[in-house]
Amino acid sequence: MSRTFIGTDEHKELFCRQFIDTHDPYDPKKTPWPELSGDALERLRGMPFWSEAISTETEVAKKVEALVPVQTDPLLREAIALQGFEEERHANLLAEMLRHYQLAEPTVSFDPLGPDPYWGFLRTGYGECFDSFFAFGLFSLAREVELFPKPLIDVLEPVVQEEARHILFFVNWVAWERAQQPWYAQPIHAGRCGLAMGAQVWTRIKTAAGLAMGGDDGEEEDDFMLGVQEALDISSSPAKVVATCIRENDARLAPFDDRLLRPKFVPGLARIAAAILGARGGLGVRD
Ligand SMILES: [Fe+2]
Ligand SMILES: [Fe+2]
Repeated sequence: MSRTFIGTDEHKELFCRQFIDTHDPYDPKKTPWPELSGDALERLRGMPFWSEAISTETEVAKKVEALVPVQTDPLLREAIALQGFEEERHANLLAEMLRHYQLAEPTVSFDPLGPDPYWGFLRTGYGECFDSFFAFGLFSLAREVELFPKPLIDVLEPVVQEEARHILFFVNWVAWERAQQPWYAQPIHAGRCGLAMGAQVWTRIKTAAGLAMGGDDGEEEDDFMLGVQEALDISSSPAKVVATCIRENDARLAPFDDRLLRPKFVPGLARIAAAILGARGGLGVRD
């Protein structure tokens, strides 16, 4: 991929068009929810994170939608509005699932929007880069160990693939936006992105430390996937979890045009972790 392509009108057309053209027009109200056995229903009811999941999706939707009115480019505006719609649809799909299987009514809560929609979108985008990477792997492991019946996993599959589209769009949007800035402003843009990403790293370190000590640090928003990983308690070794996340991340991003950028930071960290765990014979640590 040519570096000179990044930041061009052609680049913008490509990442927006790929995003818009791969939109799946499903309607959560028409979801063919499969019949679940008593066991599967109990497992679903026993999972403590549904309210948090719906709150997270709703908050992400609001932050994404907040960028739409300030976005002057019509194609970018259309793509960002579509992402907002998809995030809200994730919340609606989960709410439909809770209703259908008569799970407890969710308690939806989220922080009010901040004053700067651009900052909100940056924070949210980097958060999605973290959460989606782990969601890809955990979703695959849940399928492998048949945590839920296959038809239910299939119903939730579009949500996971949509997150792959979101992070692909986000990293290309960040690179395109930076390229539009004059040379002297580009380091400031890079610094803001670093801060937004650093904030996400920090919340995850806090949560991971809290979980390692068997506590709850009270974070509800940005570290949702770490909580999910703990709640699912999929009995795989850390090495297997990391390897699955890497494999699934690569597979989910593979169908998109090679000229588009891919998220690098989280997969890069994961590859380092995989190498360390592999060298220490990490396979089987938790098995
Ligand atoms: Fe989402
Ligand atoms: Fe998303």
